[in-house]
Amino acid sequence: KISAVIFDLDGVIVSTDEFHYQAWKQISDQEKMYFNREINERLRGVSRMESLEIILSHSDKNYSEKDKQLLAQRKNEVYCALLNKLSPNDILPGVINLLLSLKARDIKIAIGSSSKNTPFILEQIGLAFSFNAIADGNSITNSKPDPEVFLLAAEKLGVAPEECVVIEDAQAGIDAAIAAGMKAVGVGTAASCVNAQLTLKDLSNLNIDQLIEVNEIRS
Ligand code: BG6
Ligand code: MG
Repeated sequence: KISAVIFDLDGVIVSTDEFHYQAWKQISDQEKMYFNREINERLRGVSRMESLEIILSHSDKNYSEKDKQLLAQRKNEVYCALLNKLSPNDILPGVINLLLSLKARDIKIAIGSSSKNTPFILEQIGLAFSFNAIADGNSITNSKPDPEVFLLAAEKLGVAPEECVVIEDAQAGIDAAIAAGMKAVGVGTAASCVNAQLTLKDLSNLNIDQLIEVNEIRS
């Protein structure tokens, strides 16, 4: 039985990794810190402050806690200016169809994202009122791979974790789903989705029967 599907936001509903890259790149260049696309890949699913720690682990710079907060804030200002360009056209292939068919089958839909910009992004792409529940970076203390965000989404929906399937593009997110006792579908650069029950390039060919099958796999 499947009662709900919990969607990650960045990289599943909408592709924001290029904006994250550009924003971190700008700050890294200003601060003379080393940063490249490969490091950016490792920031998928990880909170803003943890992302900064990963970037700092590749440089010999030392910052106080207060300066780190300021750096993260500067990055977010650049990132939000880029998010202003987002529109419903940026919703990834297959997303709208899947949301509609889940609704038609009375399967609940939720967002489970590490991002504190979740409300802004959903607003920009016209999906602010489309989900039954939203769990995001503003309402959790431990970010993925901790299961907190997905457990919170299930709780808000009033659904047991075993009845939820998570759709994720990040290994940290797949790990979080498994830790929450949920099954996971990996999308995007799926090669990195170890332990996902199913991996897909995008959501355009995913149907509900496949999701039900995914949830019946007992491991
Ligand atoms: C995740 C992204 O969804 O949100 C990460 O995959 C990002 O790359 C994290 O670091 C936090 O985002 P924000 O919007 O709160 O800075
Ligand atoms: Mg993601």
